[in-house]
Amino acid sequence: MTGAGSPHASPPGKGNAFGVYVHWPFCLSKCPYCDFNSHVRHAPVDEDRFARAFAREIETTAARTPGREVSSIFLGGGTPSLMRPQTVGAILDAIAKHWRVAPGVEVTLEANPTSVEATRFAGYRSAGVNRVSLGVQSLDDAALAQLGRLHSAREALEAVAVARDSFERFSFDLIYARPDQTPDAWQAELDRALDEDSEHLSLYQLTIEADTPFATLHAAGKLRIPDPDAARVLYDVTQEVTAARGLPAYEVSNHARPGAECRHNLIYWRYGEYAGVGPGAHGRLQVDGARVATATEKHPERWLLRVESRGHGLIVDDTLSREEQADELLLMGLRLTEGIDPVRFAATAGRPLDASRIADLCTQHLLEIDGAGRLRVTPAGFPLLDAVVADLAA
Ligand SMILES: C[S@@+](CC[C@H](N)C(=O)[O-])C[C@H]1O[C@@H](n2cnc3c(N)ncnc32)[C@H](O)[C@@H]1O
Ligand code: SF4
Repeated sequence: MTGAGSPHASPPGKGNAFGVYVHWPFCLSKCPYCDFNSHVRHAPVDEDRFARAFAREIETTAARTPGREVSSIFLGGGTPSLMRPQTVGAILDAIAKHWRVAPGVEVTLEANPTSVEATRFAGYRSAGVNRVSLGVQSLDDAALAQLGRLHSAREALEAVAVARDSFERFSFDLIYARPDQTPDAWQAELDRALDEDSEHLSLYQLTIEADTPFATLHAAGKLRIPDPDAARVLYDVTQEVTAARGLPAYEVSNHARPGAECRHNLIYWRYGEYAGVGPGAHGRLQVDGARVATATEKHPERWLLRVESRGHGLIVDDTLSREEQADELLLMGLRLTEGIDPVRFAATAGRPLDASRIADLCTQHLLEIDGAGRLRVTPAGFPLLDAVVADLAA
């Protein structure tokens, strides 16, 4: 990446984090649980053409957000590790050409943990990637087969080892609360994962997403997942084991050594400013004093044609009302163990949070106010987060 850290006059918003999310929408096969914007193509994808479209959309988005300094970049998917390193390099160069890039910028790439992908890691590092997030999902081969993954546990651990040698920082994802998973088996799997000494782990409970093959199997009674009580026991195991090993939760599903949190995802949860480029990417931008929600066309080739003809793939470009912003701030911020600043909520909404609802939730030990006046969900409240947020937002 060129242009990183070049000295310029202070832009507006200096000191504020600004993230760029780039979506690569292709996968080798579709996992049966996944409802992300990912597509399988049986003919080779024209990466050069996509790279030109990414650069064009980056240019258009940067023109709306002049003077920002990019503090993090996240290449997510789909499977961004299917991209050639030069495609990643071209995207990062376009970002550095049209925005200023902060010294020490965090550049994360999501990678599937196969041996083929691991061979590209050195190229990604040369292109400017300094952090990878690997979709390991499980360290049990039978579970990986059930999840429809194309890699074995051994192959995943080999990719983790290459990631450790290739990048300054790495993280990996596991899915738990899988069919028939016992607390003892999950504890052993998690302990094995923590032996890899990753500074960051994303630990997701299996969710049955609508319109996926898992949803069909589940509805037919052919896929039984842990009931809420059993899932709660697995959740508690997750919190205990990760905290004991120095990676406490800092967000509902994300764990890190203190200081090793994903800076890019923190922008979302702290309700900061970020641009979304690529098919189906979402953004939240400050434009002429308004907060704007953006989303692009999801279908890859339709997005490509739109960008080629109009310079962007936007299908949503809406100014958010103060109430909408306040709801989003609450929804995102309460996912973090650090919680939210009620003063910021009041400034955003134009009204304070309902004191009697806060008092009720505090009495139930689901919510607390810390010494700095921040409002945060308690460990007992996190498993009930959706209900707590709904109650406060009502
Ligand atoms: C964008 S996705 C996938 C990244 C990458 N393509 C992969 O599969 O390794 C990010 C993560 O979301 C998680 N995920 C996706 N669908 C899920 C589901 N239905 N339930 C729980 N976790 C899910 C997986 O852990 C996955 O690694
Ligand atoms: S889980 Fe990852 S590899 Fe599987 S379909 Fe979703 S984005 Fe693609």
